[in-house]
Amino acid sequence: MINTKSELITWSPTFACGVKVIDDQHKGLINLVNKMFNHVTGDEAEELAYFNIVIKEAVQYIKTHFATEEKIMKATKFDGYIDHKRAHESFILSVVECINDYKEGKKYTLATFTKFLKEWILSHVAVMDKQYFEHFKKMITTINKVVM
Ligand SMILES: [Fe+2]
Ligand SMILES: [Fe+2]
Repeated sequence: MINTKSELITWSPTFACGVKVIDDQHKGLINLVNKMFNHVTGDEAEELAYFNIVIKEAVQYIKTHFATEEKIMKATKFDGYIDHKRAHESFILSVVECINDYKEGKKYTLATFTKFLKEWILSHVAVMDKQYFEHFKKMITTINKVVM
């Protein structure tokens, strides 16, 4: 059994890239994961009912975030764009797979599904997103025009 209290994520300045819209979205993702952990009750039916609602919000939020990053990468001619976009796409595919597994009663509980989301998000931000931080800082004037 996962101790969800100890799984909660705290925002850290090391996650910050300095572009407000991106930092706000990363904070939003963290809040979403924490919210999901806080809905773990151990009651399977209750958790599934909650999951069915929250997962739509989560997928939408993640897609919007990826689209924002990709738009900025493209506008600033970031050279990691293609690989990064590919990582986003393959994550969406695996999320869809995991959602189906959860709904079919295979493999997941709300706690383990949320842990999967958490681990992907944290490692993606720390490794791949981190690669554009310096670039975005340099391109902030262009970015401000794009995200207005
Ligand atoms: Fe990101
Ligand atoms: Fe990303």
